[in-house]
Amino acid sequence: MNNSNIAFIGAGNMASSLIGGLVQQGCQKEKLFVSDPSAEQRQRLVDKYGVNACEDNHQAALQADVLVLAVKPQVMKEVLKDLNRSVKQKQPLIISIAAGIPLATFSTLLGEKTAVVRCMPNTPSLVGVGATGMMANPNVSEAQKTLAEQVLGAVGVALWVNKEAQIDAVTALSGSGPAYFFLLMESMIAAGEALGLDTETAKQLTLQTALGAATMAQQSDVPPSTLRQRVTSPGGTTEQALKTFEDGGFRSLVDAALTAADKRSKELAELT
Ligand SMILES: NC(=O)c1ccc[n+]([C@@H]2O[C@H](COP(=O)([O-])OP(=O)(O)OC[C@H]3O[C@@H](n4cnc5c(N)ncnc54)[C@H](OP(=O)(O)O)[C@@H]3O)[C@@H](O)[C@H]2O)c1
Repeated sequence: MNNSNIAFIGAGNMASSLIGGLVQQGCQKEKLFVSDPSAEQRQRLVDKYGVNACEDNHQAALQADVLVLAVKPQVMKEVLKDLNRSVKQKQPLIISIAAGIPLATFSTLLGEKTAVVRCMPNTPSLVGVGATGMMANPNVSEAQKTLAEQVLGAVGVALWVNKEAQIDAVTALSGSGPAYFFLLMESMIAAGEALGLDTETAKQLTLQTALGAATMAQQSDVPPSTLRQRVTSPGGTTEQALKTFEDGGFRSLVDAALTAADKRSKELAELT
């Protein structure tokens, strides 16, 4: 990775956290470039990480071995049309983190030979514990796949899927997933308060329990189902709570929620 120039189009939140992760992993700041219409946004990253600011998107693309497209989906087509000439000249690996823009759009607007990795990161990437699904088009070499893993892996876990439709499943699972856990946290805090705890105590206990459960599940060599069974004593309190969840259709509700998100992700992709 240290031999590659990595340029970012868009110097917003995601670019900032990816650059932060890359610098932390030892990526040389001289190898990092940013472009953004806002001089203030560019300067923020120059001041924070010492990266190179580019006057415009072309200047960034012409430096790049890896070109990370970190703009909002609404402006992506305009950005791609404008970048066509520079990308054809330099032929960098394109990494798009924009939700809902299919691989075909990049081939159409940048050229059929362009190597493109489409990613679906999630919001915890902003604090270095993201979960990202990635899909490569057939032009991406093995070395470029490794580069993409290193760039997205700088802010968490980055895994490949092998069919583009699976990006919708990734969107439904980890893309939207943080909100599901936030909802569970909200509900647990409210229930804790209803049982007599003050708000701050209920909140701290809930958040620490979520962190503890995720940490245990990550560090364990058994699946979450086994961990759940291990903390459920027959006739105990956990058993009562879990029975209430099961009787209320918890699993089918989660299944229906993710199915709805997957469907909506497909619908939104058709609109872009
Ligand atoms: N944030 C997340 O947690 C998250 C999670 C998953 C996926 N994503 C995806 O990541 C992408 C970036 O998200 P973000 O949260 O980092 O957005 P953001 O903070 O709004 O950053 C986008 C940046 O791109 C700039 N920009 C606009 N037009 C441009 C152009 N023509 N050329 C170069 N830069 C341009 C914007 O400037 P202005 O502000 O002046 O318009 C802004 O600074 C989005 O496509 C989003 O779907 C984000």
